[in-house]
Amino acid sequence: MGERVIRWGIAGPGRIAESEASDFPLVPDAELLAVGSRSAERAQAFATRHAIPRAYGSYRDLVDDPDLDAIYIATPHPQHLAIARAAIRRGKAVLVEKTFTATVAGAEELRDLARSEGVFAMEAMWTRFLPAYVSIRKLIKDGAIGEARQVQADLGVDRPFDPTDRAYDRLQGGGAMLDLGVYLVSLAQHILGVPDTITATGSLAPTGVDQEFGLLLGYDDGRAATLLGSIRNASPGTARIVGSEGWIDLPARFHHPSAITLSRCGREPQTLDQTPLGHGYPHQFIAVNELLRSGATESPIMPLDDTVAVQKILNAGCEQLGVHHREDETVEV
Ligand SMILES: NC(=O)c1ccc[n+]([C@@H]2O[C@H](COP(=O)([O-])OP(=O)(O)OC[C@H]3O[C@@H](n4cnc5c(N)ncnc54)[C@H](OP(=O)(O)O)[C@@H]3O)[C@@H](O)[C@H]2O)c1
Repeated sequence: MGERVIRWGIAGPGRIAESEASDFPLVPDAELLAVGSRSAERAQAFATRHAIPRAYGSYRDLVDDPDLDAIYIATPHPQHLAIARAAIRRGKAVLVEKTFTATVAGAEELRDLARSEGVFAMEAMWTRFLPAYVSIRKLIKDGAIGEARQVQADLGVDRPFDPTDRAYDRLQGGGAMLDLGVYLVSLAQHILGVPDTITATGSLAPTGVDQEFGLLLGYDDGRAATLLGSIRNASPGTARIVGSEGWIDLPARFHHPSAITLSRCGREPQTLDQTPLGHGYPHQFIAVNELLRSGATESPIMPLDDTVAVQKILNAGCEQLGVHHREDETVEV
């Protein structure tokens, strides 16, 4: 007999929702039952493309569907909070796209609400669930590189300036820090923990959002992370975790690699194949489904305290660059 089927809804039929829905058939014992949009036409078009049985022309109707176990929220960052809050209050598990919210207060509110309601909530940091990252955690735990001391990583995309594009629009939480920095900071936080100091430099686009940044995370014991991000120009998108006895290279793009290379002092480098399922998105759904079946309300791999810690670093970096994000409380839900 198969596992209990987990029934999912998607909020926000945009670009990432398309990719996740395309990978969803690779998630066992799960059904993509519904999609919600501000527009009935967009919801129906998405539902037709992905053979989703129910299409709702409002986010309220989606979170009200009594047959849904979980909702994957794929709206822009400032539009996560209101939908996630409404879903949690209706007892629905939530998987919330990164960045989790636009502000630290929003992230803390969702964390506290999920805990007080006893409802599952997780940031959709799919990277942490990929085979490459499962192996990295095991290698570090087994002492393959000694003590992890440094992380260096970059992530840049050449996104032509367009004030209406989510990446450049303040009202959609635009900017390189929240969009791409979240991968860099989440990696550093996962490996090194919460930093003692945060130092950001960078420049702003004409819309006032950060278009490029350098971030130095410092730890009082001398550990450090150097992170570079940009929506103004492309960069390789590689990462390296350096330990006291070796290092691990994550080739481009480091947030969804299909191989990693382990270099141990005095030995030949060793490349390990880490091919993910599909485009890599099924792994986080598989993990959440297992947690929901077990009755868990948080993931030990992507706990809400990590999400809040990452959000604090991102928003501190933004503030240093003069970018002040706000949540969108006008979302109808
Ligand atoms: N995991 C990944 O690899 C990955 C990749 C890209 C993006 N993301 C994350 O996914 C989220 C969405 O990014 P995206 O690139 O998919 O965005 P997008 O293409 O602009 O789509 C966002 C969707 O959100 C809905 N929405 C609801 N309220 C909105 C508002 N006030 N303004 C604009 N759209 C609104 C829109 O659907 P309706 O208008 O139909 O309601 C729209 O289709 C972001 O948080 C982003 O960081 C993750």
